[in-house]
Amino acid sequence: MEFTEAVRRRRSVRKYAPDEPIDTKKVRSCLQLATLAPNSSNMQLWEFYHITSSEVLEKMSNYCFDQNAAKTAQQMVVVVVRKDLWKKRVRAHLKYLKDVFGDKPKKEQSKRARFALTYYKKIIPVTYADFLGLFGLIKYITYWFIGLFRPIYRQARQSDIRIVAHKSAALAAQTFMLAMSDINYDTCPMEGIDTLRIKKILKLPYGAEINMVVSCGIRLPEGVYGERFRIPFEEVYRTI
Ligand SMILES: Cc1cc2nc3c(=O)[nH]c(=O)nc-3n(C[C@H](O)[C@H](O)[C@H](O)COP(=O)(O)O)c2cc1C
Repeated sequence: MEFTEAVRRRRSVRKYAPDEPIDTKKVRSCLQLATLAPNSSNMQLWEFYHITSSEVLEKMSNYCFDQNAAKTAQQMVVVVVRKDLWKKRVRAHLKYLKDVFGDKPKKEQSKRARFALTYYKKIIPVTYADFLGLFGLIKYITYWFIGLFRPIYRQARQSDIRIVAHKSAALAAQTFMLAMSDINYDTCPMEGIDTLRIKKILKLPYGAEINMVVSCGIRLPEGVYGERFRIPFEEVYRTI
């Protein structure tokens, strides 16, 4: 399918065909494509829980308030933000960089290698580390003062970093939905959900956060609620 066709075809579907199952392997492939989404510092602080068990789907529907998009879903994907895994991701990056650039002493490293290593050894830890929000607040105030004199990165507080991680997860969710559309499968992103109960059923740790749940299936004609409504493009498009 042409890319533009897949984009136009994707709609939030609220009613799926009850007798048209979808192929778990194909959904999994779409999730593999989702992991190719751009993401902040390539930290990949996401996980995708692919739900196919009818028993869990029933519980999940309940936790999505039995809204139409959940009730008839053939499968579901829970997009999870794992900001808490940042140290593990740093270790993965450092191993990868060693493999790419070789395990050389600092003096022999190329400029690119040195920058990449410093980025994951120093800048990322300073960005992600926090203690009860205190370190974040100190960083925020420090950056604010430095920012009076020169441009500076300002995403310093815990809440800022949460947004950073959720942005990336949402891009993966969108990549997944477009990949599904490309193979004539349908989806609906949902945030009208009980995140705490979903975390419990998925046995997620305290630090994990639910980004969104995406229900999946094959659309029924009445599952698309009318023509697509968008604010006129001229109203949201600015040339500078
Ligand atoms: C983050 C997010 C959360 C959403 N939550 C819900 C939801 O809980 N229930 C629902 O029916 N639709 C939900 N939607 C779907 C939107 O209502 C839908 O994308 C919007 O109306 C535009 O329609 P379209 O997706 O068909 O273009 C959500 C969409 C996004 C991006």
